[in-house]
Amino acid sequence: MTEGCTEYSYNKTGCAGADPQIKIDRLEKTYRRDGKKTEAIEDISLDIRQGELVTFIGPSGCGKTTLLKLIAGLITPNGGTVEINGRPCTQPGADRGMVFQDFALLPWRSVRKNVELGLEIAGVPRAERREKAESYIRLVGLERFADSKTYELSGGMKQRVAIARALVVRPDVVLMDEPFGALDAQTRNIMQAQLTDILGSTDQTIIFITHSVDEAIYISDRIVVLTKRPTAIREVINIPWARPRDRSSSEFNALKKRILDYLERENVMDS
Ligand SMILES: Nc1ncnc2c1ncn2[C@@H]1O[C@H](COP(=O)(O)OP(=O)(O)OP(=O)(O)O)[C@@H](O)[C@H]1O
Ligand SMILES: [Mg+2]
Repeated sequence: MTEGCTEYSYNKTGCAGADPQIKIDRLEKTYRRDGKKTEAIEDISLDIRQGELVTFIGPSGCGKTTLLKLIAGLITPNGGTVEINGRPCTQPGADRGMVFQDFALLPWRSVRKNVELGLEIAGVPRAERREKAESYIRLVGLERFADSKTYELSGGMKQRVAIARALVVRPDVVLMDEPFGALDAQTRNIMQAQLTDILGSTDQTIIFITHSVDEAIYISDRIVVLTKRPTAIREVINIPWARPRDRSSSEFNALKKRILDYLERENVMDS
């Protein structure tokens, strides 16, 4: 594989350009609990530019969620730094929105009230809140369910609420931890297409974690393949192909096989 950005593959920090939005620099994380040490992240450096959709994929338990939490500022690294727009991410901030695998919705609140939550916290006045929430509820196709309580919804619908809730506050960066992991295959495909559609119309940066190689190739501008724990970057793959991508193409399947072969060697079963 050649170096640089013309081929679909290149290594380590990649080519985010001279002025990256996010700079991850020599990040390290070791957990210490009950006298036990778990080294999660060994050494990760990566530059990400504004508007990129970057996916992290790697063996189960390698440290993906840890990495996302470090970027979110929810936990503190043992070494290294994360900066967004030149500012260190040492605590959570409104510039970053997070979508968790388990949705983290408030079940007794309506769809509308869940989507309005971040705006409420930010002190956005009621009428403006309602209007903004409405447009994002429409964007994810849930207008008929705006007044339903979220416990009444299917997994796919809950996931769409969680995405609308993260996007409505217009964070510079959206952090998504296996957001489609609990969905059936068909809903998952629809959500992937919707996500790339939604993002095509904004300049938001997305950092996305998945276990699915197919999903990563379908949605990403770049895929960062991680090693097993303590994790480090194995490879960064640039995917310049136009969207929507053709899952049946030979180049799609050749890349899928190459990543799967590696992950299977490292003990990951999902495709
Ligand atoms: N708060 C914590 N205290 C101690 N160890 C932790 C903590 N959180 C995670 N770990 C450990 O750190 C390692 C990495 O965990 P992490 O959740 O980041 O992995 P992951 O790649 O997201 O896993 P999965 O594929 O299951 O989502 C694991 O061995 C995990 O048990
Ligand atoms: Mg995880």
